[in-house]
Amino acid sequence: MSESEHVWRAVARVDEVMAGVVLEVAVGNKRVILVRVDGEVVAYQGTCPHQFARLGRGTIADGWLHCPHHRAKFQLTDGTCGPGWDLPALQRHDLRINDGAVHLQDPLE
Ligand code: FES
Repeated sequence: MSESEHVWRAVARVDEVMAGVVLEVAVGNKRVILVRVDGEVVAYQGTCPHQFARLGRGTIADGWLHCPHHRAKFQLTDGTCGPGWDLPALQRHDLRINDGAVHLQDPLE
């Protein structure tokens, strides 16, 4: 699908995305999480690559996002999985910031 077939949808206000907190949003029927990384808003897939737990219910500590189910952890900076697990990195989604709002592509790539 080309970018011209995507619509950019506002999913949250930028100031809703706070450091140390995971904000879950949805685009269509897909969950996405928004987190702060070094002050910037970053979007990742909203379900764990292990058994699809909602990462929006996870916790952030020391630069890692911890899955709420079996506690796999993912680096906030690039989504890579931490030691002890053999899981793919979290998919990062492009986003745009306009008029104080975070926009994601719909449909997501
Ligand atoms: S579902 Fe996330 S670690 Fe198992």
